[in-house]
Amino acid sequence: STSSTLSFTVTERTDRASEADRAAVLANPGFGQRFTDHMVLATWRKGEGWGDARVTAYGPLQLEPSAAVLHYAQEIFEGMKAYRHADGSVWTFRPEANAARFARSAHRLALPAMEEADFLGSLRALVETDIDWVPDATTGESSLYLRPFMFASEAFLGVRPANEVTYCLIASPAGSYFASGLKPVSLWISEHYSRAGVGGTGAAKCGGNYAASLAAQIEAAEHGCDQSVFLDSLEQKYIEELGGMNVFLVYRDGRLVTPELSGSILEGVTRSSILELAKDLDLEPEERRISLEEWRAGAESGEITEAFACGTAAVVTPVGRLVWNGGEVRTGPQGEGGEVATKIREALLDIQTGRTEDTRGWLTRL
Ligand code: COI
Repeated sequence: STSSTLSFTVTERTDRASEADRAAVLANPGFGQRFTDHMVLATWRKGEGWGDARVTAYGPLQLEPSAAVLHYAQEIFEGMKAYRHADGSVWTFRPEANAARFARSAHRLALPAMEEADFLGSLRALVETDIDWVPDATTGESSLYLRPFMFASEAFLGVRPANEVTYCLIASPAGSYFASGLKPVSLWISEHYSRAGVGGTGAAKCGGNYAASLAAQIEAAEHGCDQSVFLDSLEQKYIEELGGMNVFLVYRDGRLVTPELSGSILEGVTRSSILELAKDLDLEPEERRISLEEWRAGAESGEITEAFACGTAAVVTPVGRLVWNGGEVRTGPQGEGGEVATKIREALLDIQTGRTEDTRGWLTRL
């Protein structure tokens, strides 16, 4: 861990949301639609480093139209959740892993590093200021989604790393990511689009990867599917990940398999946590290449009994169907999650929400 250099002091307070308004949002938060009253900002300047750290009222940012991010997409982000436990204390899950990934993403996008202590300090400052927005997590999966991001705010049209960068943190109450809740989702395999390629930005959490997934997402919706699943760009043969989450397959013999990190897959914190939890749940985790053909054949033969997607936003979401141009296979029960996906989801949520003991030191108090 590192020493903090920034002090996120509150420079402007607002009481935008009334208590009744906030209660209504918290009762049915959905995902990513409403934001808390404040946000964090900091600015980095070449030669000076980070400064101007503050907590201020949530609201529009002022950007020059020539701000580099609007042209060349020099931007990265993270996603975490804050959970209110039964005793009222508020915790987040493995934020050091997000801080480390933020640093790796920054390196890939030629953005400045932020110290882990400053990253964590920003989370604490915002959660402390907007503490009333953290939902009760003693039942269900409600949380306050934390979205840190960093972008090239310098007004300059030349293509080079920006000399001025803005860090911002916003927060949004979150229920389940998919509108259908815990119902199994269906996946579409795009013939036309890849998400990332060898040597590209696939392993970085940058906005551009998500922009690249959207055309495939439209294709998925046109075929009645919820998400697209991307194959490796070289051979179009191996499963990589979904538009915004990682994927696991459950085998009848207890193996729990996820695509190995190929350099173009996002290294999900939920993904790596599930790989660790698996052993406690009598599952045998494996990271390796999984061909589309293996999924198809395994689902048909019954060797693959379940599939699920995972991510901070999605937690664990069962996958019921895999669809491509000309065919489809089904995995697991169709109306609800399979046994293994449900067990993993509960095990993970129980730790995050304080319903069970955190024996791994995964939680950090905010
Ligand atoms: C997350 O799971 O936190 C993500 O960043 C995925 C995004 C599609 C919401």
